[in-house]
Formats: sequence, structure tokens, C-alpha cells
Amino acid sequence: MHLTHLLARWQPLWRPLPFQHPVLPWEADYPELGAMLRSLTDEDCARLEDDPFTDSPLARWLPVEALAELVTLPALSARNATKLPEAWCQHVGGRKWQQIEAFAERLAFIPGQKLVEWCAGKGHLSRTLARLLESEVSALEWQQALCDQGQALAERQGVALRMCRQDVLAPEVADALKPDSHLMALHACGDLHVRLLELAAERGSAVTLAPCCYQRTTAEHYRPLSREGRRLCERFGLSLSREDLALAVQETVTAPRNVRLNRQKASAWRLGFDELQRELRGLDAYLPVPSLAYGALPSSFEGFCHWAADRKAITLPDGIDWARHEQAGWRRHGEVARLELVRHLFRRPLEVWLARDRARMLEEAGLAVELGTFCKRSLTPRNLMLRARAPA
Ligand SMILES: C[S@@+](CC[C@H](N)C(=O)[O-])C[C@H]1O[C@@H](n2cnc3c(N)ncnc32)[C@H](O)[C@@H]1O
Repeated sequence: MHLTHLLARWQPLWRPLPFQHPVLPWEADYPELGAMLRSLTDEDCARLEDDPFTDSPLARWLPVEALAELVTLPALSARNATKLPEAWCQHVGGRKWQQIEAFAERLAFIPGQKLVEWCAGKGHLSRTLARLLESEVSALEWQQALCDQGQALAERQGVALRMCRQDVLAPEVADALKPDSHLMALHACGDLHVRLLELAAERGSAVTLAPCCYQRTTAEHYRPLSREGRRLCERFGLSLSREDLALAVQETVTAPRNVRLNRQKASAWRLGFDELQRELRGLDAYLPVPSLAYGALPSSFEGFCHWAADRKAITLPDGIDWARHEQAGWRRHGEVARLELVRHLFRRPLEVWLARDRARMLEEAGLAVELGTFCKRSLTPRNLMLRARAPA
């Protein structure tokens, strides 16, 4: 309840995107907060991006301590952490393998249950669990190529895995589930994991889920899944758009240095172009420019502006002072990073709120539910796990 209240109370501060507003709407009410953020050093800004809750100067204005407390979740208990055999991680990326190990250790399997993986990709998690638990696992995935590759890998290793080409949103999925099904998913997005939860709630199936990408949903506005979530949102006036949901998963693992530098340049150039287009159009309003695939960024700021202007049918006159506009873009980039710290503070609380709504929905369906973390944040920031089973 307190979390809903805080998210609702501070909506006017965490919702506006600094990228779109040279001066944020809330700065009129909190001029000192804006000034303090703009004056932060690069080091302090990076420190707070990494850990928004420790030793934060934002605490003078915002409920940092209360939020920190509300997002503290237990690390879910694991089975005897026997290291899985080295050979099992063949064909799986290092980081993904560590996530699979952590997930597998925490899956509360009851012999006789039929494990079904949702959105399984090549079925790496299912293959590992089929070996570990010596039980057949069904892995649902809609891409035929991934199913074929996953099946071939399992057969080569003599593992009892059944890769099933299946759209998990199709109605027939429900027919394939039995009361003793145990549904699991590692990083299934938005509507896909919501469907898993709905079916589990209907059937009372056990669930082990690490949710991901809440914003991948067809609904433009979030309708809480639990009755309690709906009641609290109404009571406190919390309303979440699809764009708001994206905030919950904005934090990514630190990318390699060259990727980071490239992202920073792309952001500074976009902001430089934004200043330029405001001047040229005589209109002080943000103009969205389509995103560019990684590696497709033109080689100069001028080249980027020509590309962006073409997309938006803007004619660039001769004599533009490119250096001045590029510099303005870099200045705005630094400012945006600092002002984003307000949103960073509410990112994990929003993610925890969404996970709690999922947990509550299963509780309301009569399941016993645990919500906690399954691995360190450094392994994946999407480290929340929901475990549910029929009550003993
Ligand atoms: C983010 S990946 C996760 C894969 C795997 N669980 C992992 O952690 O590596 C999502 C997977 O879901 C699959 N997918 C997307 N929509 C689906 C649908 N409607 N039905 C079944 N699979 C789907 C994609 O093809 C992709 O393999």
C-alpha cells in the first residue's frame, strides 16, 4: 500500500522524460532539486546511477529511505547448491548459463510435476532441468528454427526434452496444461508471462517465473492483474501507461566501453539535433526521431542531422554552425543524465510494484506465493523471481 502511495504521490516527478524537456515541468516547484542535480559531478552522477539508494543527495526532497526499504526483497532459498557439471553449459552464453544455474537451484520441483517452459528459445533452461531432475520437460517456443536447434542439442546430449512449436498466446495452450503442470519462464516478456500467470491462476498450477519487459503489452494503459492492485491504483490515483512500464526495465547491465561510448554519442547527437530542429521550426517542442540500429550511426554529427532531418521532412539551410549545435547536444546529454536520477530512484520500486501485483494475483487465486531475487543484480537486473504452488 505504501509503495502504491509513493509511486502515485511522486508521479509528476518520475514521469516526465528529461530527454524531451530542456526544463522539466516539476522544476518550477522544486527549483533547488533541479539546481542540485545539474551541479553534480560526473562521478556522483555515475555513482547514483549505479546505486540510487545509498548516500543520496536527493533524500532532501524525495523519500529515498522509504523506497529503499520497500524494494528490499529476500534472496529466495536455493536447493543444495551443487555445481552443475561444466559440460552442461556447452552452447550457452556465460551470463545466461549463470542465470540458468541460479534459476534451476531455486525451482521448487515436486516429483511427478510436468515442467513446461514458456518462450523457451533453444530450451537451454529446460534441457538443464531435464538433466538435473531426470524428468521430461516440455519447452514451448514459437520459432521453428529455435525448436529444431533446441531438439537437436537435446538429442545429441541424450536429454528428455520436448521442444514444441507453440504460440503461447494461442487458445489451445490451455488444453495442454494439466493440474500437475509446473509452468516456468526465464525472462518471458509482458503479455507472454501474463498469459502464463492467468493460466496458472485458473488451474492452480505451480509457477517459477522471472518476469521481464512489462511494457511489451498490447494494452496502452496497464490494468493491474490483482484485485488489490486495481483497488490501490484507484484509491491513490496511480495510472500507468505502456511508456511508464518501460521505466521499470530501463536499467541494463553495464555494456562494454565501446558500446557505452557509442550510445553516449548517439544520445548527444540526438539532443543536438533536437536543439537545432527547435530553432529551425521556431517551435520549442520535442520531435521524436526514429531509432537507429547499433552500428548504423552516421560518422559525423552533420551526417546524423541530415539523416534525421530527412526522416522528419525538415530542410536544413546552408551555414549551420555544426560545432555549436554538437556542443549543445553534449551539454544537454550531461544534464539529461543528471535529471534522469529522479526517475532512476523510482525504477526498481515500479518493477517491484509490478511483480507484487503478479504475486498478489496468484495469491488471490489461492496459491502460496514467494517473491524475491534469484541472482545478483550484476548478473541480470531482471533478477526477481515469483514462486507459487498450491498450499500444503
Ligand atoms: C527473451 S527470449 C527468452 C528466451 C529464453 N527463455 C531465455 O531466457 O534465453 C523470448 C523468447 O520468446 C519467444 N516468443 C515470443 N513470442 C512468443 C509466443 N507468442 N509464443 C511462444 N514463444 C514466443 C521468442 O521467439 C524468444 O525465443
